[in-house]
Amino acid sequence: MREIILAIETSCDETSVAVLAEGKQVLSSMVASQIDVHQAYGGVVPEIASRQHIEHISMVVQEALHSASVRREELTAIAVTHGPGLVGALLVGLCYAKGLSYALGIPLVPVHHLEAHIYANFLLPEPPSLPLCGLIVSGGHTDLIYMPRHGEFQLLGQTRDDAAGEAFDKIARVLLLPYPGGPHLEKLAAHGQANLNFPRAWLEPGSLDFSFSGLKSAVINYLHTKKQQGQSVVAADVAAGFQQAIIEVLVARAVAAAKRVGAVNLCLAGGVSANNALRQALRQAALEQKLHFFVPESQYCTDNAAMVAMSAHHRLQAGVVADLSLNAAAVLPMTNWVNDHLVHNVVDNGYNSGKKA
Ligand code: KG4
Ligand code: ZN
Repeated sequence: MREIILAIETSCDETSVAVLAEGKQVLSSMVASQIDVHQAYGGVVPEIASRQHIEHISMVVQEALHSASVRREELTAIAVTHGPGLVGALLVGLCYAKGLSYALGIPLVPVHHLEAHIYANFLLPEPPSLPLCGLIVSGGHTDLIYMPRHGEFQLLGQTRDDAAGEAFDKIARVLLLPYPGGPHLEKLAAHGQANLNFPRAWLEPGSLDFSFSGLKSAVINYLHTKKQQGQSVVAADVAAGFQQAIIEVLVARAVAAAKRVGAVNLCLAGGVSANNALRQALRQAALEQKLHFFVPESQYCTDNAAMVAMSAHHRLQAGVVADLSLNAAAVLPMTNWVNDHLVHNVVDNGYNSGKKA
């Protein structure tokens, strides 16, 4: 039977549904963005996000099926992000996915949001081989991951304070740019000179961790001081200087991590990987270090369900499915599912052992 997975992603402010065939072909990928709604508040309001997901999810599922030309009965599994993320938002997607799985009598595949970001690289026409080293840069996380094979993840480094996307959004806000700040800051930076030397936090020798709160404070202090002195600032130069500082650390750490674990494949993932300056800088550094560089197409960098479907495809191959007690988790560590099946609430409910269709 042809494997057709319908995946649902509602961890933050995008209601996204995708249909993936045979772990290769994205038949549809729909994203209903809530940006307009949250823009008025300058950031995501969790309760509003949940209510928006409830309003949109049925329609987005219909559209994803319609656009894929797939009937519900043809689906062979339902995948869903169950963490990390906003709990109320996750629960909307999770409950919908459980309902579909139960009604259609097909497996429910639990997916970890950050793992899915890495799996966005496997949507490329020429996906990476394993082992790989992944840099995940999103709104809530900045993680360096070593992945020797499917379902096995080792955390090599992470941020000790702000995530890269969070830093982009906060600095965009003080520069009076609209939410979400990252893409707007990138556009502004393209018109500026990176000649303001904002600090880079290299931490202790050998560390693969990150810290962006000092950089954030330095930019804010610079803007305050200039204001107090009655001097004007060139916002584009501030944006360019900030972006350069963040990219320099991300690139150096990603290359060092790949070298340390001896991985020749380096993958970039997460919303900030849509940033062209970062993509170019890491591509160049990888080339110089003889590493193979991978980055998803822009539409699969920010939150989307196609990456969730791809992750689910590999989990299904390993027989990882969940029962209807699967819960949402705001904080969810990445766990290995090949060796010890430590994934939360995952049990063999009979689907993977062939007892159910
Ligand atoms: O992965 P994602 O869509 O959602 C989370 O899982 O957090 O990442 C969203 C983050 C936001 O902070 C957003 O500002 C940032 O990714 N982002 C960017 C760009 N596009 C999105 N940051 C810098 N440059 C961009 N072009
Ligand atoms: Zn994300």
